[in-house]
Amino acid sequence: MTFEVVVVVVALKHFLVNHPLAMLIETKDGYILALQRVASHGPRLEYGPPVLLQHGLFMAGDAWFLNSPKESLGFILADHGFDVWVGNVRGTRYSYGHVTLSESDKEFWDWSWQDLAMYDLAAMIQYLYSVSNSKIFLVGHSQGTIMSFAALTQPHVAEMVEAAALLCPISYLDHVTAPLVERMVFMHLDQMVVALGLHQINFRSDMLVKLVDSLCEGHMDCTDFLTSITGTNCCFNASKIEYYLDYEPHPSSVKNIRHLFQMIRKGSFAQYDYGYFKNLRTYGMSKPPEFKLSLIPGSLPMWMGYGGTDGLADVTDVEHTLAELPSRPELLYLENYGHIDFVLGASANEDVYKHMIQFFRARRMSTSW
Ligand SMILES: *[C@@H]1O[C@H](CO)[C@@H](O)[C@H](O)[C@H]1NC(C)=O
Repeated sequence: MTFEVVVVVVALKHFLVNHPLAMLIETKDGYILALQRVASHGPRLEYGPPVLLQHGLFMAGDAWFLNSPKESLGFILADHGFDVWVGNVRGTRYSYGHVTLSESDKEFWDWSWQDLAMYDLAAMIQYLYSVSNSKIFLVGHSQGTIMSFAALTQPHVAEMVEAAALLCPISYLDHVTAPLVERMVFMHLDQMVVALGLHQINFRSDMLVKLVDSLCEGHMDCTDFLTSITGTNCCFNASKIEYYLDYEPHPSSVKNIRHLFQMIRKGSFAQYDYGYFKNLRTYGMSKPPEFKLSLIPGSLPMWMGYGGTDGLADVTDVEHTLAELPSRPELLYLENYGHIDFVLGASANEDVYKHMIQFFRARRMSTSW
């Protein structure tokens, strides 16, 4: 292989924050996002096909690098010669900027995943497309797939994407089984935090920790927090959890959680529901417009990996998504895999990534790469 990853895992924090190849991108609504590039070196200083990694909810781009270089998708793609770019949505610790607002302004947190799709993902794809002068490969996980589906319904975004690989694909969310999520929805956690005057969801804040504890106490065992919010995971190394917690979770907005809870309650893949009158004012109709998966070009190659124990991307919901897509994505179903395994699983390279890479390679057969 001509390309080799230069960075090492120990330097991760430094790498992601002060990365000499980190680009700052401004979205149309003024957020400043950090987009990192994995450095490669070899006999020829040259990069292969560009790939953008889009992380999920409460994560950031660092999630793709938390395991060893032989286990982490970000490093593995670079070792296979891809030009790896790492997205970080607004609100994560790498993308905390705005041209006029600061994180303490409530307006700073006035967004949900539809803004992450229409502004953040669109800006990152546009930037990569223009600097690399080539269509890009897109990889999403979880909320990163919600964003991808929504963004790809826009023809001008879809035409910049060569192919998409989606891990734990989500557009519909009405079959969520993760017990703590079900309880949060049932107990209207989203309204509780609004009542508390919060605009940001930060699991490192005392107030939120107390609130979550009160939801669990006497009702469910939340000692295994990850299982209670994502479902059972088979394959990630639980003894590394302390280390993972150095990086995750990242903050998100209360509005985003409300939007996700709307999807769980209503079974819709639609824009944010403001209620009757504000919907009329905002959208010119009483209900929020739906995102139509049928608008994603049937010619756009897609690959999906999903798991049988995933408490968030439930198999029934994945099938619903598939039924509405014009294309027939290549599918990898792993019965024992859960939501986190697809990013942090110790054997994910063998089980998942090598199939994804084969799929990408098959799209570029004609080039020498
Ligand atoms: C799990 O992680 C611990 C701590 O990093 C390490 O010592 C152990 O070898 C890992 N186990 C496996 C199966 O990779």
